[in-house]
Amino acid sequence: MRFSVDNEKTIDAYFGDQRSLKARYEGQLTPSFQSALDDYHAKVTERDAVFYHTIDFGDGVLQKGAWDLRDHEQAYLGGCELSGKRVLEVGPASGFLSAYLASKCADLVVFDLPLGSTSELVPFSEIENMDEFATGARRSVEQLRNSWWLTKRKLGFKASAVYADIYDPPSDLGRFDVAVFGSILLHLSNPFHALQSFAATTDSTIVVTDVLGVQSLSPEVGQSLYGSANMIFAPSPLPSGIVHWWALSPNAIRHMLHKLGFTEFEVTTHSPKRMPSSPPLFTVVARRAAKSGLKR
Ligand SMILES: C[S@@+](CC[C@H](N)C(=O)[O-])C[C@H]1O[C@@H](n2cnc3c(N)ncnc32)[C@H](O)[C@@H]1O
Repeated sequence: MRFSVDNEKTIDAYFGDQRSLKARYEGQLTPSFQSALDDYHAKVTERDAVFYHTIDFGDGVLQKGAWDLRDHEQAYLGGCELSGKRVLEVGPASGFLSAYLASKCADLVVFDLPLGSTSELVPFSEIENMDEFATGARRSVEQLRNSWWLTKRKLGFKASAVYADIYDPPSDLGRFDVAVFGSILLHLSNPFHALQSFAATTDSTIVVTDVLGVQSLSPEVGQSLYGSANMIFAPSPLPSGIVHWWALSPNAIRHMLHKLGFTEFEVTTHSPKRMPSSPPLFTVVARRAAKSGLKR
């Protein structure tokens, strides 16, 4: 579409259209939309799915995935209080933690990439055809989402799913007590913006778990990086580097969440017992100061 400077109406219409995009992806939490999503994924089988998590479906089948967090759920979530809470899980992958969260909390909403989109890809200059990569990445997102619906169907837990823009989430999701960001911020070009998007609707606690990448660095560099509020850009080579934007330090997360109004922090490091050769993880549990209830 071409614009001339004096074509005010067209310019107004153009920017008006963009403003109306603000309502993108709304309406997903209605029962009818959730049941439409359920129907859409009803015919999904293992052949359409790729599992990120190892999950015991209790039917004699142990579904293998790259991440085995069994018996590590509490540590992974920093021991965060879930009972009676409304919880948002951002980036649930195959749903191992969704099942755990749903069993503990009052209401679970999971949030992931919109249908038909890809995760953000680090633009490596050595990749000649980024479009080809994107096609593969789009398929991976679909297979991962399929695995979540298979897990939900097989384990039968209760949760609602929302698929939208992490930097501009729909405004009709309501308020949450707890928001969980498990191993997702490293995959985002702008982790602060993602935290900010959901901090605005999180009343009490944000839990961030991420990979503690120190052992790939020298001890001195590791110490100084993780002691201060640093993050390293594009720390991994291809192929995993394509979706690995940042190595984040616990203090970087703490610093970001402090700017967003969270004032109490617990930081832990831990390693899933069933993944002895994987890098250790860290979890930051950040809370807003409890309201005193006293009137001034
Ligand atoms: C590495 S998995 C983490 C799985 C799970 N949270 C855990 O901790 O075990 C990353 C998740 O983040 C989601 N994700 C990645 N980029 C995203 C984006 N831009 N917007 C929303 N979700 C995204 C992926 O689809 C996937 O569900």
